[in-house]
Amino acid sequence: MESVWMKGCEIRKREPLPGDMEAPVVVIGAGLAGILTAYYLKQEGIRAVVLEADRIGGGHTKNTTAKITSQHNLIYSRLIRTFGSQMAAHYAVANEAAIGEYERLIREKGIDCEFVRCPAYLYSQTGTELLKQEAQAAASLGIGAAFETDCELPFPVAGVTRFARQARFHPLKFLSGIAEEVEVYEQTKVLKVEERKVETDRGAVTAEHVVFAAHYPFINVPGYYFARIYQERSYVIALEGAKRPDGMYLGIDPGGLSFRSCGDLLLLGGGSHRTGVNPMDKTGAGCKYEMLRNRSRELYPGCREGYRWSAQDCMTLDGLPYIGRFSRRRPCWYAATGFGKWGMTSSMVSARILTALISGRECQEADIFSPNRQVTVQAVKELALHSAYTVKGLAKRLLPPGMGRVIPNCPHMGCRLEWNPEEESYDCPCHGSRFNQDGHLIDGPAQIDCKKGEGE
Ligand code: FES
Repeated sequence: MESVWMKGCEIRKREPLPGDMEAPVVVIGAGLAGILTAYYLKQEGIRAVVLEADRIGGGHTKNTTAKITSQHNLIYSRLIRTFGSQMAAHYAVANEAAIGEYERLIREKGIDCEFVRCPAYLYSQTGTELLKQEAQAAASLGIGAAFETDCELPFPVAGVTRFARQARFHPLKFLSGIAEEVEVYEQTKVLKVEERKVETDRGAVTAEHVVFAAHYPFINVPGYYFARIYQERSYVIALEGAKRPDGMYLGIDPGGLSFRSCGDLLLLGGGSHRTGVNPMDKTGAGCKYEMLRNRSRELYPGCREGYRWSAQDCMTLDGLPYIGRFSRRRPCWYAATGFGKWGMTSSMVSARILTALISGRECQEADIFSPNRQVTVQAVKELALHSAYTVKGLAKRLLPPGMGRVIPNCPHMGCRLEWNPEEESYDCPCHGSRFNQDGHLIDGPAQIDCKKGEGE
């Protein structure tokens, strides 16, 4: 299922790595985070080589809803409570600056990517208290946020929190433009990373700094990201003939939907669930696309579905991205991952922070994003939940397969995969790797295909 962004957007092909080479920096992954990091390093006079297993933007950048926001659900009141106002302000400043930086780059480079400034709203149909708290918290950190009661959505709401001057764009058109200035090698699969040497199926790159920007870090130790990140899937349908709002909307109630216009289309999103915990049963009940279709028919009678697609997001235990030094044990490695639902803005934040760290500049916003930051109470609670899924997934591999489809085990750490009838894939409930029905790898952290029949 192709997203709306893939239609008619061809990114220029690049050659594979021609053989062994040396470079100051090697970046793994040519999505938005990797390409932007390499771009900013180049602006500092530092050569960065980007390695991509597939094509530029061939991973998760193409499946986003492409909102560039400092509004990240109900985050600011929680950040102030947990980390204090100063650290919360660093998060706010970094994300607000990211929006401005996109605008500056797009204008300066003349990249035609449908960039539009617009407000972003949180809405609730049931209460106003959380919205008011969030508006107050964000405003106290310098964001132009306010509680309001007016709303463009076709159903009544209790209220909204409005964030002014946020943005939306076409992610692949932007990526295509900015990647023109970056040294990228496509069809080059990283097999192993040892200190400063990145081995691929086309040769090895030796570098002073290694940036992991390929969605989910595939190295288990050090870093232990597998214990700190799980993945979620969510769904989008693009509707023709539906009334389009000027702003972008995200519901904070359970089951809340997201709304965002895109040219003549309305993008309706929702239905998040942990990857590998499949909501649809054999009768088709629980199908997330069907849920979105039903809602679209209620809200916009006569509308038609033009596109549908799903996204896979890396979620961290405390809800903040991991951007910075990969591990204290590997000071020359860097991570850009765990962006949650906010991949566009977090990619720019990553690029700015990693460029500062690699070039030896001070970056006061870096602490709140550090993969080595303090562990919060919320993170400890989430860890217990996350571990329970892993234990269950590992225990299941010991069960006999039963009747019907033989389910393979995951090559990452051995959990029993789950068959996902909605997307016809094998999904891992432990850390979110996915495979097609022939066992070919779709999403990591697994690095290789799964062996069909291994679950017997
Ligand atoms: Fe880790 Fe499957 S993704 S065991």
